[in-house]
Amino acid sequence: MPAVTSPARIDYRVAPGGRLSGEIGIPGDKSISHRAVMFAALAQGTTHVEGLLEGEDVLCTLAAFRRMGVPVEGPRAGRAKITGVGMNGLSAPGASLDMGNSGTAMRLMAGILAAQPFDSVLVGDASLTRRPMKRVADPLRLMGAMIETGEEGRPPLHIRGGRKLKGIDYRLPVPSAQVKSAVLLAGMYADGGTSVTEPAPTRDHTERMLRAFGYPVEISGATVRIPGGGQLRATDLQVPADISSAAFFLVGASIAPGPELTLRGVGINPTRIGVLNILRQMGANVEQVNARMAGGEPVADLRVRAARLRGIHIPDAQVPLAIDELPVILIAAAFAEGETVLTGAEELRVKESDRIAAMAAGLAAIGIDARETPDGMIVRGGSAKGGIVDSRGDHRIAMAFAVAALRADRPITILDCKNVDTSFPGFAGVARTTGLGIEVVPTAA
Ligand code: S3P
Repeated sequence: MPAVTSPARIDYRVAPGGRLSGEIGIPGDKSISHRAVMFAALAQGTTHVEGLLEGEDVLCTLAAFRRMGVPVEGPRAGRAKITGVGMNGLSAPGASLDMGNSGTAMRLMAGILAAQPFDSVLVGDASLTRRPMKRVADPLRLMGAMIETGEEGRPPLHIRGGRKLKGIDYRLPVPSAQVKSAVLLAGMYADGGTSVTEPAPTRDHTERMLRAFGYPVEISGATVRIPGGGQLRATDLQVPADISSAAFFLVGASIAPGPELTLRGVGINPTRIGVLNILRQMGANVEQVNARMAGGEPVADLRVRAARLRGIHIPDAQVPLAIDELPVILIAAAFAEGETVLTGAEELRVKESDRIAAMAAGLAAIGIDARETPDGMIVRGGSAKGGIVDSRGDHRIAMAFAVAALRADRPITILDCKNVDTSFPGFAGVARTTGLGIEVVPTAA
């Protein structure tokens, strides 16, 4: 029998029109899943995780810890059993650690690895190899780490082991939860306390998870402080559904007329709900029901009904709280009445792709008037003809244009969609159950 190989590339072909309805579950939160694996690996005792995202990004993090001697059972259907080796129990990986497409994995792992007794090397795919790592290398070096980056501060990262780290008080130059987290993770190993002050609120999953694992954390205003030398105690965790993945359906159900769509158990951490705030300001009808806590994080079911959206100037303060959802928010803008202006979003240029350029080109390709600016975009709401969009290998660009087809006159073909598996394995299947006419087309490389 021939070996079963997955195609080198896949495209999406999405039929125009349709409506989204029903009730669906969404895979686990990517940010929380990475952290769950990291904290569980370094804890004393066994952690059972439920709802873990089995996307490629998180699988890279899991593989890295397995390589460093951490016993992991699963993941299977979102369940994993991780036997922590304690703060000082990791062993040398013996080869480079491949972080795939994941900036979160590389930056957070850099914080942990900077404090280990062994040397390590972090590598990634072509997209990750273009992304800035100086932003984590700089503060870690201030703590005493020895890290060499590739050209212009990019991966690979060569991290020297056996360095004694000292605590620092660090003011983040850019609002980045990844940098904050890297410094805090290294801070657990440092002599003395470590604090991080952020210029604007960013996701606080690391702070919440430190607490869940019994590590002392002090938060005052924009500053988080931890002592060095503490321990993590294993705990059982339930990962909420990822609001960043839910966002495609929030927008899809808002722009296409239809009954209603319910998304179960979505994380509504206040540092992640920029997408809800922005869509509501545009006139979206999203109701939160059955609000509860799960694993130290607030969750709710989200019920969405179609609404007439209007263009707005997206408040700059919401940008870090919606940073991963901005591509699909721009799709909402494409079908809103009037103009939507996005500013203060230059960080989008250094994500899995240059998301400002990718969105502007994609919107133009389907017939929407979108003007790129250095730090954002101006989108004039209109109607989409359909056409061919290059996702540039970026999962969120691919999924954003898939839901745009709901309002297009002709099909939208989206190229290079394999990386959807990094954050939302099974997206096309879930989307189909809600009513999206999406077809997955395997293509040669
Ligand atoms: C993440 C933080 C954000 C986000 C990324 C996940 C995290 O990046 O874009 O998808 O898990 O901490 P920055 O912190 O670089 O803005």
